[in-house]
Amino acid sequence: MSKRFDGKAALVTGAASGIGRATARRLGSEGASLALADINIEGAETVAKVIRAEYGVAVTAIQFDAAQPASCRDMVDKSVAALGRLDVLMNIAGIFDWNHFTDFPDEAWDQIIGVDLSSLFHISKRAMPHLVESKGNIVNASSTAGIKGQAYCAAYCAAKHGVVGLTKSLSIEYAAKGVRVNAVCPGGIATALSDKVTWVETFDIQLLSLLNSKMNGGAMAEPEEVAAIFAYLASDEGRYITGATFAIDGGQLAG
Ligand SMILES: NC(=O)c1ccc[n+]([C@@H]2O[C@H](COP(=O)([O-])OP(=O)(O)OC[C@H]3O[C@@H](n4cnc5c(N)ncnc54)[C@H](O)[C@@H]3O)[C@@H](O)[C@H]2O)c1
Repeated sequence: MSKRFDGKAALVTGAASGIGRATARRLGSEGASLALADINIEGAETVAKVIRAEYGVAVTAIQFDAAQPASCRDMVDKSVAALGRLDVLMNIAGIFDWNHFTDFPDEAWDQIIGVDLSSLFHISKRAMPHLVESKGNIVNASSTAGIKGQAYCAAYCAAKHGVVGLTKSLSIEYAAKGVRVNAVCPGGIATALSDKVTWVETFDIQLLSLLNSKMNGGAMAEPEEVAAIFAYLASDEGRYITGATFAIDGGQLAG
C-alpha cells in the first residue's frame, strides 16, 4: 500500500524533541525522506537513527541556530542538497519563556522573536523556490497564544501571532503557484517546552488554568496527536487547505 509521503522530501526544524520529533517520526513512518534540523545536533542524530532503523527512509541531521539568519539559510541549503528536492517544510523549532512584562529581559524578547518568528521568515524565504518547483507546502508551529492573548508571555504571544500573520500572507501570495501554507496552534502539549511552564508562585497562576483545557480534566495532549495534524495538513489529503490556523487545544479557544 502506498503511503502519503512516498517519494516526498521533508525538512523538519526542532526535530530533536517534542512535537518536531513526533512529526519527523510520523512523516518517516509514511515514507518521507527527511532532513532533521535542530540546535541540539546530538538529539537530532538520535532521532534520525531511530527513524532510519524503524522505517528505512533516508534521514539527515543538520545543526543550526534559528536565532541566526545565516544559519537558517545555510541549513535550508544543506537540507536541499541532502534531499535532492523539497516538498514539505515543517517550521517547528521554538522556545518559550515567561515573566511579568516589566521584568522581561530585553535579550529574552530578542531571542524569542528571533527563534519563534524571524527564523520562519529566513527559512521559508530560502526554501520557497524549491517549494514552488515541487508545488509543496509549509506547516508552521504557532500556538493558542498566536490566536488569543496570554498573560506573562508577551514575547511568545507576539511571535506566535506573527507566525499566523506570516502564514496567512504567504498562503495568499503563493496560492497561484500551488504552494500551501498553514499553521498549527497547539494548546498544552506534554513536551520539554511545557515542562518549563510550571507553577510560579509570584504569578499567582497555574499552567492548567492558563491553558484552560476542557478535555480529560485539563490534561495535556501528547506530541504524537499534534504530529498527526501536521502530517494531515502537509499531505495531499489537505490539498484544499491553505492559510488555515488549526487548533489542537482541548477547547481552549472555544471560550
Ligand atoms: N508544548 C506545547 O504545549 C506547545 C504549545 C503551543 C505551541 N508549541 C510550539 O510547538 C513547537 C515545538 O515545541 P515543543 O513543545 O515540541 O518544544 P521542545 O522544547 O520539546 O522542542 C523544541 C525544539 O526546538 C529546538 N530549538 C530551540 N531553540 C533552537 C534554536 N535556536 N535553533 C534551532 N533549534 C532550536 C530545541 O532544541 C528542541 O529540539 C514550538 O514552536 C512551540 O512554541 C508548543
